[in-house]
Amino acid sequence: MDIRLLQPSDIPHVQQTNITNLPENYFCKYYMYHALSWPQLSYVAVDVSRPKKTPYDAPKIVGYVLAKMEEDLQDGIQHGHITSLSVMRTHRRLGLAEKLMRQSQRAMFETYNAVYVSLHVRVSNIAALALYRDTLGFKVGGIEAKYYADGEDAYSMRMDLDYLR
Ligand code: ACO
Repeated sequence: MDIRLLQPSDIPHVQQTNITNLPENYFCKYYMYHALSWPQLSYVAVDVSRPKKTPYDAPKIVGYVLAKMEEDLQDGIQHGHITSLSVMRTHRRLGLAEKLMRQSQRAMFETYNAVYVSLHVRVSNIAALALYRDTLGFKVGGIEAKYYADGEDAYSMRMDLDYLR
């Protein structure tokens, strides 16, 4: 498995992975906005075990993290934000999400001096909560009621990036 920076040409495949794994989906231009505005922050996991037959074969994207720097700084502190993360079912529990998150967090810190990283997650999302809280060390900052389109609440989480200093 290869973890590398998201390239604009990956976007249709990332979009497909997102649609397969999550109900929160985005227009192509929103992915492009991330890739062009903060090209250091979003990564893909590519299954390189099956070699390409032609140079035009699509890469097999099995996971991604889509990340940005927060533009509306309500607390005045420079920080990153995880817009979306997912890994295909066939490739879960291999440590891919953890690696994608750590790469993005390091880039936020090194490129943009991010002090912390934030995200939202469904209160029912046991797997993601375990990853964020227990594996990575995020803390729950609060609950945002009816954050999602279907009315589910979100935990608002954040993690200080001081450990990268
Ligand atoms: N149950 C409990 N703990 C879990 C689970 C699970 N199903 N999956 C991961 N974890 C925890 C474990 O502690 C795991 O370490 P371990 O395997 O040594 O026990 C640790 O997280 C690291 O797991 P990874 O292998 O890195 O995680 P994976 O690559 O499987 O991806 C993810 C986890 C992204 C949550 C995946 O299950 C997924 O794509 N789910 C559907 C989409 C989703 O919920 N995305 C997050 C939405 S929130 C947002 O996008 C900001």
